[in-house]
Amino acid sequence: MTDSHNRFLGNRALSPETLMMGYGYDPFLSERSLKPPVFQTSTFVFRSAQDGKEFFELAYGLRQKRPNEEPGLINNPDLEMLEDRLAIWDQAEASLVFASGMAAISTTLWAYARPGTVIIHSGPVYGGTDFLLKKILPQFGVSSIGFLSEGGNRAMEEAVESARGKGPIAALYIETPANPTNGMVDLERVRKIVSALHAPDGKRPVIIVDNTMLGPIYQSPLAHGADLVVTSLTKYVGGHSDLIAGGCSGAAAVLEPIRGMRTILGTMCDPHTGWLLMRSLETLKLRMTAAAEGAHKVAVFLSTHPKVASVWYLGFLPKGHPDRSVFERQCKSPGSTFSFEVKGGEAEAFAVLDQLKVIKLAVSLGGTETLASHPAAMTHSDIPEEERLRLGITPTLIRISVGIEDPDDLIVDLNQALG
Ligand SMILES: Cc1ncc(COP(=O)(O)O)c(C=O)c1O
Repeated sequence: MTDSHNRFLGNRALSPETLMMGYGYDPFLSERSLKPPVFQTSTFVFRSAQDGKEFFELAYGLRQKRPNEEPGLINNPDLEMLEDRLAIWDQAEASLVFASGMAAISTTLWAYARPGTVIIHSGPVYGGTDFLLKKILPQFGVSSIGFLSEGGNRAMEEAVESARGKGPIAALYIETPANPTNGMVDLERVRKIVSALHAPDGKRPVIIVDNTMLGPIYQSPLAHGADLVVTSLTKYVGGHSDLIAGGCSGAAAVLEPIRGMRTILGTMCDPHTGWLLMRSLETLKLRMTAAAEGAHKVAVFLSTHPKVASVWYLGFLPKGHPDRSVFERQCKSPGSTFSFEVKGGEAEAFAVLDQLKVIKLAVSLGGTETLASHPAAMTHSDIPEEERLRLGITPTLIRISVGIEDPDDLIVDLNQALG
């Protein structure tokens, strides 16, 4: 461990907020530059042929690292620093970064699914993930069984039971809170169910959690029993709607097959995006805190508006609702992305979206600016209508991702649009 990897000051464990400013970076190795430069390079020079030989012996696991040995570089330093820092927020041993959230999700599933295996997944899941599970993986002999992530029912147990006739379970893939309904899945319950199962190789199925909606600040799935946490870094972590990237964190051994698959599929993140993400990690908590405060104000306003039929904001889960106890145990805040239904039909929802002035009509979420979209006609339009309605994605549902503008301006905008 180098000095720049020290996470303590005396006895004090430094907070992630503090570590984001420089963890893993030594300015004296980079011309004293205060911030890491963009290492816009694809390869690194060996001092000698022997140096190259020793490096590859280490890289291929042919020998152990010698005490105080500082191996040469083959991975990009920006990406290594970023992975070290993302692992801190995810409370993980290690992280991997990818070219997009979908690259992280698909590479992870390619690493663990095999022909003849089944993936059990919560629903709804992000439209791209849904497409992967239902349209792409079946072409390779991997089937999936979904269950509705809400209601504290036995849907998850039933999905697992119904896999018996279909083949061994490779993974439980969970999106919680779900996009766009904010439905919750109890991860400790998932862990209990999975502990009793055995995958084809004798190990139990992996639990993969998409933490895009609240992560990494407001939910830590690894602390609640997940094996792997995947995040679209395009959203809150990037935070400025100017990059596309994804992350996967967990124990180093569980990440190993994914790392290998990433090399072969070529789904890794590029250095410039990695550098932008390190900039973003410095302000992540500030941005998510401001957005969550604004979202609360906006949700309260919407809940009192006569043209709004319902507001699916996690902070409003009624006492006794089965999702409420899961939310209180598993999450630190309702975050800032939620959906609401207007009265009427698709035409009324479209009319509201078309009238917005400050809030932009766009998909994606987690940026500094507030965005509104229509999941049924946009991100989830690929799901058959009957299935969409079963998942709660109705024609009057509008999803809003609250940014860090003055929330009172957003309320004035929504008020005029609803009027
Ligand atoms: C919950 C969730 N997971 C994954 C993704 C995919 O991320 P990306 O757009 O970075 O591929 C998205 C994108 O909207 C998402 O909302």
